[in-house]
Amino acid sequence: MKIRHKVWNSFGRRSFVILLLSVFFLLGGCQTSAESDLQSSSAGKDIFDESCASCHSIGDGIIVGPDLQGVLDRRDRAWVAEFISIPDQLILSGDPIVLELLAEYNDIEMPNLALTETEVESLLIFFESGESVEAVDITLPQGHVARGEAIFTGTQALEMGGTPCIACHTVGTVGAFGGGNLGPDLTKVYSRFGKIGLTSSLQNIAFPTMRGVYEEKSLTNQEVSDLLVFLTINSARGEEEGVADSASALFWGVGLMGAALLFGFMSFFWSQQKETLSDRLRKDAGITSRRHS
Ligand code: HEC
Ligand code: HEC
Repeated sequence: MKIRHKVWNSFGRRSFVILLLSVFFLLGGCQTSAESDLQSSSAGKDIFDESCASCHSIGDGIIVGPDLQGVLDRRDRAWVAEFISIPDQLILSGDPIVLELLAEYNDIEMPNLALTETEVESLLIFFESGESVEAVDITLPQGHVARGEAIFTGTQALEMGGTPCIACHTVGTVGAFGGGNLGPDLTKVYSRFGKIGLTSSLQNIAFPTMRGVYEEKSLTNQEVSDLLVFLTINSARGEEEGVADSASALFWGVGLMGAALLFGFMSFFWSQQKETLSDRLRKDAGITSRRHS
């Protein structure tokens, strides 16, 4: 017993410690290499191309939002990290830099893209690399207004089978009752986003709620072009703003009129019915109606 104990003491315990240490280092090594795989400039570029490039270039001018070249020189790194993670909350909090940006960018709000901390860090590392990203090529085929409207309202199906826009959006006077209101009214969207911004953000859908819906059902260039012309025309009409309100006024108006008519009909037939019914009962009972006596 004693000998075995000694052996454990001199050899077993030492190797046990060595084993523990090597496992520890091995795990640690794996972890740091995994982390640096995730948080890298190239990971950052992939995220940028997928989620940001339809609204931002780096060194190629404004698209929907600002050119991000040198963003880390003009802003605090921590502020940029926070803004990318939770732009919606910074907008709500009335952050002075954000208010200034909103005024400059036609009140277009940068969406919350639900990025993880690791993804945000990769983006920052990518910004630090100083690499540039060109704006997408926006040469499009000739668009047609009627086709744009047909695609918007769903009278013509989207080629890849995406949901028609009217399910979530209104525009101008389309549809007697306006479209859906999950998404914003698009009457003025062209003047706010501009041609490049709107093209770019529809070619590679930039809006988080829509991305899932159009994943693998992206719009074709022809469809983007048709929608663009259609949205341009609505935007140019100008005075159409607030149609969503008038559409809902129309909705209520028609609803109330319908209800009034229905009640009118009902009371008319109800009194008729009451009379004939009581008359009939009296008749059946052999009582002559008082009214007719
Ligand atoms: C739908 C368009 C859109 C998308 C997509 C978008 N942004 Fe923005 N971004 C904007 C707008 C617009 C602004 C200007 C601030 C505002 O109005 O909210 C902005 C501002 C910024 C700013 C501040 C720039 C400055 O000059 O201070 C940073 C940084 C930024 N965006 C990074 C990103 C990153 C990173 C992504 C991708 C993960 C992204 N944005 C995706 C529209 C977008
Ligand atoms: C499933 C609902 C849904 C469908 C379908 C949909 N959208 Fe959207 N869209 C939204 C929502 C919600 C927003 C607001 C941003 C967000 O949350 O993603 C939005 C934002 C937009 C914006 C930016 C508007 C702004 O003022 O910021 C444009 C442009 C747009 N959609 C165009 C379209 C077009 C064109 C179609 C049809 C091809 C379409 N959408 C189909 C839900 C939808």
